This record gives sequence, structure tokens and C-alpha cells, in this order.
Amino acid sequence: MCQGEPYLENDSNSARASLEDPKEEKKVYEKDGEVVGVITFNTEGDRGNFRNIYVDKCHRGKGIGRELAMHMEQIMKGRGCRCILAPSVYNEKFFIKLGYTLVPKTKMTTIYRKKLICE
Ligand SMILES: CC(C)(COP(=O)(O)OP(=O)(O)OC[C@H]1O[C@@H](n2cnc3c(N)ncnc32)[C@H](O)[C@@H]1OP(=O)(O)O)[C@@H](O)C(=O)NCCC(=O)NCCS
Repeated sequence: MCQGEPYLENDSNSARASLEDPKEEKKVYEKDGEVVGVITFNTEGDRGNFRNIYVDKCHRGKGIGRELAMHMEQIMKGRGCRCILAPSVYNEKFFIKLGYTLVPKTKMTTIYRKKLICE
């Protein structure tokens, strides 16, 4: 855990609610027995919903976020999902790096999409 930055302490309320929602599926990343990253998601038929992701500040930039997202993608592919939708207003560069594209004309929330199966 980061010194002086307890897990999720500085995250927004909505992000915290999503990450702690028991209805969401969750994968955590542990280092030396401490949870330093978490991703939450769910699937609805052939659609995957990327709900939230968080990596502790002092562990960022080491590929943890990518690994969590890839793990989620494998689960979604295994269930036959054709695409992933990610409603987020944060970290555009992260989503672009992972192959997501911005869905145009969305209001209120920025939405990224990634196709899993070529049509
Ligand atoms: C977004 C977040 C999960 C990324 O986690 P991370 O472990 O640092 O990401 P990774 O190290 O796996 O980075 C994956 C790629 O995205 C890029 N990237 C990640 N954050 C970036 C940023 N802020 N600016 C530019 N590039 C970024 C990395 O350079 C990397 O690219 P590469 O593989 O070509 O080198 C982390 O910054 C975080 O928890 N942020 C706060 C919560 C948040 O914004 N969540 C997203 C909205 S739900």
C-alpha cells in the first residue's frame, strides 16, 4: 500500500461506490499481500460493461491497469461478448492505449468502446 495514501482514500465517491458494489464482478491485483489495484465489470448478453478501475498512485505506470483490463477482456470474450463499453470521464489516454475508441455524440458521460469480435 502507498505510504500515506490508503487504498481508495482519494478516489471519488462514485468510483468508490462502484468499486465496492457487491453486484459488480471484481478482480484485484495484489503485490506483497496488499491489494494495489482493482477492476469492476459486468456482462449483459453479448455486451461487456467496464465499470471502474483503480490502481494505487505509487503503483501506476507499471502495467497493472493493463493487466487487470486484459484479464477482464478474457472473461468477456469467454462469455461471447462482442464489445466492451466503458462510461468514463477519466483517463482518456489509458483507454486509447488499450484500444478503446470514443463513441461520438454521447451526452453527460464520456463513453469508450472496444470491439472484441470483428464483424
Ligand atoms: C487509469 C489507471 C487505472 C491506469 O493504471 P496503470 O496501472 O498506471 O496503467 P498501466 O501502467 O497498465 O498503463 C497502460 C497504458 O496506458 C498508459 N497510461 C496510463 N495512464 C496514463 C496517463 N495518465 N497518461 C498517459 N498514458 C497513460 C500507459 O503509458 C500504458 O501505455 P503503454 O503500455 O504503451 O506503456 C490509473 O491511473 C488509475 O487508477 N487512475 C485513477 C482512477 C481512474 O482514472 N480510472 C479510470 C476511470 S474508471
